Amino acid sequence: CLDIGKLYKETGSFTYDPGFMSTASCRSAITYIDGDAGVLQYRGYPIEQLAQHSNFTEVSYLLMNGNLPTPAELAKFEHEVTHHSMMHEAFRTFLYGFRHDAHPMAMMTGMLGSLAAFYHSDLNLDDPEERRMAAIRLLAKVPTIAAACYRYSIGWPIRYPKNNLEYVERFLHMMFEVPSEPLALKPVAAKALDLLFILHADHEQNASTSTVRLVGSTGANPYACVAAGVAALWGPAHGGANEAVLQMLEEIGRPENVGSAVAKAKDKESGFRLMGFGHRVYKNFDPRAKIIREMCHQVLNELGVNDPLLEVAMKLEEAALKDEYFIQRKLYPNVDFYSGIIYKALGIPTEMFTVMFAIARTAGWVSHWLEQQNDPENKIGRPRQIYTGAVDRQYVPADKR
Ligand code: ACO
Repeated sequence: CLDIGKLYKETGSFTYDPGFMSTASCRSAITYIDGDAGVLQYRGYPIEQLAQHSNFTEVSYLLMNGNLPTPAELAKFEHEVTHHSMMHEAFRTFLYGFRHDAHPMAMMTGMLGSLAAFYHSDLNLDDPEERRMAAIRLLAKVPTIAAACYRYSIGWPIRYPKNNLEYVERFLHMMFEVPSEPLALKPVAAKALDLLFILHADHEQNASTSTVRLVGSTGANPYACVAAGVAALWGPAHGGANEAVLQMLEEIGRPENVGSAVAKAKDKESGFRLMGFGHRVYKNFDPRAKIIREMCHQVLNELGVNDPLLEVAMKLEEAALKDEYFIQRKLYPNVDFYSGIIYKALGIPTEMFTVMFAIARTAGWVSHWLEQQNDPENKIGRPRQIYTGAVDRQYVPADKR
């Protein structure tokens, strides 16, 4: 790989790389992807092994610290994440300022950015322990904020985090009412959500993580960095895809409509893409999609949910994988293709799907922020451009234009 920074200093030349298709913006030891082989590893551990044996809290520790924790290290980490899960009471006033029907991702962006108003003034970014505590606070408070946004949006009172519950169960408990015993409060649901959180926890320099790093490169506080990451995640080409997939499957409606959906996705004039298909890095099956697809059948079975959209999704996958257009472009289902069906089965409303992603990805965002702050090569992110506008024009007074 070429050191373009060195080349620029020596020759003044730089590269034009829209979408950063072939530009490494940093060195990182957190997540390894081999897109051609369909391999994903966190800190060297295959995602399949972590999905089978670990849980989200342990994976968060691994991403942040580089190694799997000993039982004592994990207990301390869990204690810290639990201890910091409460929100300052004044957050309520802030939350209640939003329109009740605002999209929860809009509220999340604002709420996370506002954390800086509560914790920034006493944060010394030069102190590794303070940086670590800021990362813990973010990880701990994100589910509380997410559940509060949801409950506010449906007019229910906010619930406080229960310290005797584990991370995912605590979140589900804050989201839903116990007496009505929705599906989401069954143990199988917590297990499924925990697995989805593991699979979404990190994915190296995706758009939102790169955003976190770009903001972090300026020395901005970590709450502002993560709020920027949430905003980037919201787009339908990124984390918003899980919501878009479900809307697409609902529009397709029945397996017999799959053929016309595939034809429409191939027609560039239509402006329609198969949501949950394709990936910038994976030119093979997304390993996360494989795990989620299997889990989807299992969870629906165990919850006793019979969702016709699963059949539509399977038929769509089958049709696209056989189609020359998708084969040639190496377009496979990505992590978002089946996750929405599981969220739906758990009773999580569609507009909360991307919020689920944001909770999980916070583990990756804070890990990247921590790594960046320790990196002696970290410098302010400042891409260049190829200017295509006019030059040297003379100002014309308004009455002469
Ligand atoms: N449906 C139909 N055609 C597609 C799709 C799709 N989902 N994805 C890519 N293509 C086509 C493009 O039209 C293009 O065709 P062309 O070569 O004839 O012009 C070719 O495949 C390459 O596509 P690009 O947009 O150049 O690929 P890029 O790497 O920039 O985009 C992306 C990747 C954004 C994920 C894209 O595949 C997409 O829009 N997918 C649908 C949205 C989605 O599922 N996003 C979630 C991604 S995973 C995540 O963020 C967690």
